[in-house]
Amino acid sequence: MVQNLAPIDRAKLSAARCAADRVEDGMKLGLGTGSTAAWLVRCLAERVRQEGLKLTCVPTSARTAALARELGLRVVTLDDAGWLDLTIDGADEFDPDLVLIKGGGGALLQEKIVATASDRMMVITDATKEVTTLGAFPMPVEVIPFGWQASRMLIEELLGALDVMGTQASLRMNGSRPFVTDEGNHILDLALGRIGNPRQLSLALNQVPGVVENGLFIDICDAVVIGHPDGRVIVRDAITGTEAEERIRFEDSDNIFREI
Ligand code: A5P
Repeated sequence: MVQNLAPIDRAKLSAARCAADRVEDGMKLGLGTGSTAAWLVRCLAERVRQEGLKLTCVPTSARTAALARELGLRVVTLDDAGWLDLTIDGADEFDPDLVLIKGGGGALLQEKIVATASDRMMVITDATKEVTTLGAFPMPVEVIPFGWQASRMLIEELLGALDVMGTQASLRMNGSRPFVTDEGNHILDLALGRIGNPRQLSLALNQVPGVVENGLFIDICDAVVIGHPDGRVIVRDAITGTEAEERIRFEDSDNIFREI
């Protein structure tokens, strides 16, 4: 039951439900990765069951693909789908310009490819992810395994010359072994503290040999849906510059628990 959820999960579910309600029959959708995106997958599966919506879904990770299939969503590859109407995904931080840090779940590469292959990208989040300046969350960078230590040295040297507070890059671990992404790469988490110029940082990082992609999403996100534990949802639209408030009725969400 929704009322038994922790406040943070009620907030994430509120945002996910609001975004799922905006999905239209026949859409080709990108499905994000992470705990908020998992709520979205459940809400979409419920709409497909109840309303018979025909959706074509492109997941951004093996985890999301497994959940979507398990709940009966139609899953295809991005190459099969071609171009998407909408991608809905979580974020680790977002700023007033709707620039994002993503990749806390290690899926930033597929997430960025899928989001940029979509007409629109909508972020679903709770209010804790909103910041005035990005960088408190360690910024993930995906690097190929070959020579990753050399890539790390080059990144740390580069950071010394850029408008950031910290320069330490740590290899993400999974227990005693390096974390491996769905694409077979590693992740370096950059302890930057503050990112003064995200655009410059993103461009510079992607010039380092071995870097596949970084977790800054710039000019990609069109709207942020911010959920609160009481069901209140704020929808901030970058294109229209508007902000609207809605309220999710939790009793309408209880069906999704049949599948959990
Ligand atoms: C996955 O790689 C990330 O980009 C996630 O979108 C991000 O970490 C948000 O995850 P939660 O919804 O679990 O907070």
